[in-house]
Amino acid sequence: MSVKQLIEAPLVVVTNREPYIDESSDHGTQTVQRAGGVVSALDPLMQEIGGQWIAWGSGSADIETSPGGKRQVPPENPRYTLHRIILNQEEVQGYYAKYSNQGLWPLSHMLIERAQFSRRAWQIYRNVNQKFARRASSVSPQGAWIFSHDYQLSLLPAFVRKSRPDVAIAHFWHIPWPPHTIFRLCPQHAEILRGLLGADVLGFQSDMDVDNFINTVERALKVSVDRDNKTIAWQDRVVHVKSFPISVDFHAIEELVQNPRISSWVRGIRRHVERRDQILGISVDRADYTKGLLPRLDAIKEFYALYPQYREKVTYVQVVVPSRTEVAEYRVLYDRIAKKIQEVNKQFQSATWIPLITLRHSIDRPRLMGLFRAADFAVVSSLVDGMNLVSKEFVAAQVDKRGVLLLSETAGAAHELENEAFPINPLDPEGFANTLHEALSISADERSLRIARMREHLQNHTIYEWMADIFVTLKAAAQSYV
Ligand code: UDP
Ligand code: G6P
Repeated sequence: MSVKQLIEAPLVVVTNREPYIDESSDHGTQTVQRAGGVVSALDPLMQEIGGQWIAWGSGSADIETSPGGKRQVPPENPRYTLHRIILNQEEVQGYYAKYSNQGLWPLSHMLIERAQFSRRAWQIYRNVNQKFARRASSVSPQGAWIFSHDYQLSLLPAFVRKSRPDVAIAHFWHIPWPPHTIFRLCPQHAEILRGLLGADVLGFQSDMDVDNFINTVERALKVSVDRDNKTIAWQDRVVHVKSFPISVDFHAIEELVQNPRISSWVRGIRRHVERRDQILGISVDRADYTKGLLPRLDAIKEFYALYPQYREKVTYVQVVVPSRTEVAEYRVLYDRIAKKIQEVNKQFQSATWIPLITLRHSIDRPRLMGLFRAADFAVVSSLVDGMNLVSKEFVAAQVDKRGVLLLSETAGAAHELENEAFPINPLDPEGFANTLHEALSISADERSLRIARMREHLQNHTIYEWMADIFVTLKAAAQSYV
């Protein structure tokens, strides 16, 4: 059954990031689409079934292009309504930069020392969640299904439930859920748990996250939980807590990288690489400390020191996309990464070769997937990562089955790909260097076999299965109350 057929009620999606952003520039207003995984999966579905999508209107031209706070999208062929929540500077700072990204983000990734909370930021976070919830409540038709997302909107399910007991709510937490001993450090952890428990279905990336969440609820709220069925009796309802590992649109990526334009671009890259007898590697990350970019650069240094035979031989493209520049820590990190890249290049470069080719901006999806198709290897070395879609996209784009994947053991994707990917510990530079050498030494047959097995898995576990599983669970949960 298709996802569309499963949806038996009007759908209302709520995310912090919006799917279409209007930016003003010297050339007028431009609509930009975010290329992230969730948006690129939900947007086609919403285009097919219609509905409402509520998100923060973060673009510089968002207010003028959405009279009454809404805009029909996609602009060229409107299919659904995007409701934009407009936030003032203080709200962006308190809700987004501070509470979400300096508090919940590092704490959930278990990077305790980076986490900072303040009661002022909490108040703003709470008010903004209420704002999103009010809009969700007012635009949702009777009996709608609300599909809300992530740590920025943890209080929304309970706020909506209070004013609209008729709707069914699924909330998906995209990042790791840490053990109780860590989450309890959030001064407002009990309120956050109560907020999330307003949902009928709570989705996480892995069983470990589910277990951590259930333990946290049990210990922090002193309620009894059902570990076998993964349910929590809360107020007069049963909340279903389940893992739904997010994935990619495998077939769309496969199709994209084989279209004539991208195929010919990829052939051009391959010709260039092969003529110069090079091995092409790629990494793609937001400039975020969870992605382990600085330790990765140390490992690359180690690699060229231990294995000088790869100098002049590996063309390594590192895409580093500036991220969350509203937060000072991210700006500092971005500069440190840039400096470290310079340092590595200076140490090893020659007149004809540089170790790291850095692209410091976002790459559009067709080219990014093309680069993944063309590459001989990809490195994902996150310290902690809920899933990591880049690793799955690399596998989906590898239609020629030439590439190897080096994947952090601590990225969510490792649960599914650990047997065929080469596992790396992001904090072990020597081990990392040895693994890279090992990965580059295997035969073409073994490479092809490994990537084929990963492709087979992902072919059967796409973003559509992810959505379908969530909606099937939501439907069952909603029916148990009628
Ligand atoms: N991405 C992109 N262009 C870029 C860099 C990243 O389209 O230049 C996309 C990438 O293809 C993936 C998403 O951004 O779909 C990143 O998701 P991931 O789960 O890997 O990490 P996150 O940034 O969400 O933590
Ligand atoms: C992670 C989070 C998302 C977030 C994305 C990009 O994937 O789970 O909720 O949208 O990073 O971060 P940004 O702050 O730019 O939205």
